[in-house]
Amino acid sequence: MLFLETLTTEEMVMRPSVSLEFSAKDALKAVKRGDAVIVIDVLRCCSTIVTALANGAQGVIPTKTVNEARRLHKKHPKFILAGERGGIKPRGFDLGNSPLEFSPQAIGGKRIIFTTTSGTKAIVLSQKTRWVLIGALLNAEAVAKAALKIAEKERLGISLVLSGREGKHFSLEDFLCAGLIVESLPTDRVELSDAALGSWLAYQQSRGSLYETIQKGYHARYLKTMGFEEDARFCSQVNVFDIVPVYRNGTTIPLDLNSRDLKERKARKS
Ligand code: MLT
Repeated sequence: MLFLETLTTEEMVMRPSVSLEFSAKDALKAVKRGDAVIVIDVLRCCSTIVTALANGAQGVIPTKTVNEARRLHKKHPKFILAGERGGIKPRGFDLGNSPLEFSPQAIGGKRIIFTTTSGTKAIVLSQKTRWVLIGALLNAEAVAKAALKIAEKERLGISLVLSGREGKHFSLEDFLCAGLIVESLPTDRVELSDAALGSWLAYQQSRGSLYETIQKGYHARYLKTMGFEEDARFCSQVNVFDIVPVYRNGTTIPLDLNSRDLKERKARKS
């Protein structure tokens, strides 16, 4: 049951706003607002980054292009080279973009150079804002809590950026994930845009049959034709990891909100 109370205008502006952008290219709008950005790509980039870090990878370095990833790998041949184009592993890469490949044995203690069709682009496009967090269904509640903590401390808005398909088309599973993130935020402490509210309503409608709903979407059906049905099932799990990847100096690493992280940022600002 959805409950939003009536507020005065003053109360509304005091709370962090929660906006939603519908595709990777719109990450720039969130950057312009200076918001704390949560990049969402359920199938599969962000789910894979979350899984890799949860399974002990030292860091994931997103790149926009395959060539950039290859160039970087030449400089750092010990790093793992991973990603996809058209859903499949490019020639010469160590791993593709299936989160199931990123087991502790395969990636524990390693750095990963990672390029995907839309997810890594959305992350790199967001780099000019101070906070870029990585969200998936797998870590929705953890990323929501972290974003709220940051937004309240630093008086920022929160932007949910859906990576979408090929960086430009709306993706149902990303929208539903945004809805779950919204649901994890206390409604009396944030000011939801209508798009963010819409994502929450959509999530409420499908919470009892999330995997079945995601399966109906274009990307899950596409992955199924490629033999990646299990990936969609894995990525449809809700709140199984506490890890919150943050994009810092070109690498996504686990965020530690209790460390100097947040304080350092505040100090630099003043
Ligand atoms: C992307 O970033 O476009 C996706 O992760 C594509 C995929 O599922 O491989």
